[in-house]
Amino acid sequence: MKEEYLKIKDAALTALAEVTDAEALEAVRVKYLGRKGIFTSLMRNLGRASKEERPALGKMANEIKAELDAVYEAGKLRIGGAGNGGAGKGAAQFDLTLPGRAIPPGHQHPVTRVMTEVCSIFERLGFTVAEGPDIESDFYNFEGLNIPKHHPARDMHDTFYVSDNVLLRTHTSPMQVRTMEKQSPPLRMIAPGKVYRCDSDITHTPMFHQVEGFLVDRQVSFADLKGILSIFITKIFSKDTAIRFRPSYFPFTEPSAEVDISCVICKGRGCRVCKQTGWLEILGAGLIDPEVFKKVGYDPDEYSGFAFGIGIERIAMLKYGITDIRLFYENDLRFLKQF
Ligand code: DAH
Repeated sequence: MKEEYLKIKDAALTALAEVTDAEALEAVRVKYLGRKGIFTSLMRNLGRASKEERPALGKMANEIKAELDAVYEAGKLRIGGAGNGGAGKGAAQFDLTLPGRAIPPGHQHPVTRVMTEVCSIFERLGFTVAEGPDIESDFYNFEGLNIPKHHPARDMHDTFYVSDNVLLRTHTSPMQVRTMEKQSPPLRMIAPGKVYRCDSDITHTPMFHQVEGFLVDRQVSFADLKGILSIFITKIFSKDTAIRFRPSYFPFTEPSAEVDISCVICKGRGCRVCKQTGWLEILGAGLIDPEVFKKVGYDPDEYSGFAFGIGIERIAMLKYGITDIRLFYENDLRFLKQF
């Protein structure tokens, strides 16, 4: 009987291997595994075997049955017809009732979000938006802004040079010169964009973002600058943010100031972020230096103006309580998903 089992098993396996369509597969199933199939009736005859032989034979028959069932199921998947309404090749592999795979929606990068918010505040105050080139000439980045060659202020910029007179802009201030060269006052403009400096630590990345702003007209005063920046700061942070102007120096503004806000973390009481001072520096500003006006052919006796430069990552770090600027550029989704 053992030999008979094995013979039938081989025949059934060969037949299963050879089928190429659902109909043939079903015929093989009926012939061997069906209720009246060859293998089924053989198992039914197990009772005729001797008492000693019976357990081993029974075990063997079950194993063969399991193997044939498995090969039959595999055949079904291969031709994809039987038991699936004959839906065609491969159809059995699809379960149309399974829910689809969700594509998680993306969202704006925190730097983009803050950039957009900053620009929209100034747009509502009547400023137009203009963008300039990232690769700049020495003239627009330095000379035109009253920073001649060998001026000590150049040291603060850690410039990436492309060649002697071509560089990656170190700030967005060159847009002041480019705009004033082409247009006449009154001007009220912001220039957002990427800037580059050869510097990297927890508060510096070699590329970061700034928004330059400037306004030129007759009789523009420091009070106008103060008014515009106060509105900006209370909108981007909160109404109760305190502001102070600290005397400073930039070659392209006179007088120059750095603007501090009351610490957004400790509300001015003093903490690690504000180094116990209660204040955080957030931007540079001033009245446009007459020397800059002269370079673009404006008459400094007729016109005056103010300018300011805002670091976007700095604002984003303060708004969201981020202590390492490099997190913005590591693209770790665990970080980015929080915004
Ligand atoms: N350009 C300066 C910088 O990147 C920032 C700045 C300071 C811009 C004062 C201004 C200004 O327009 O008035 O460090």
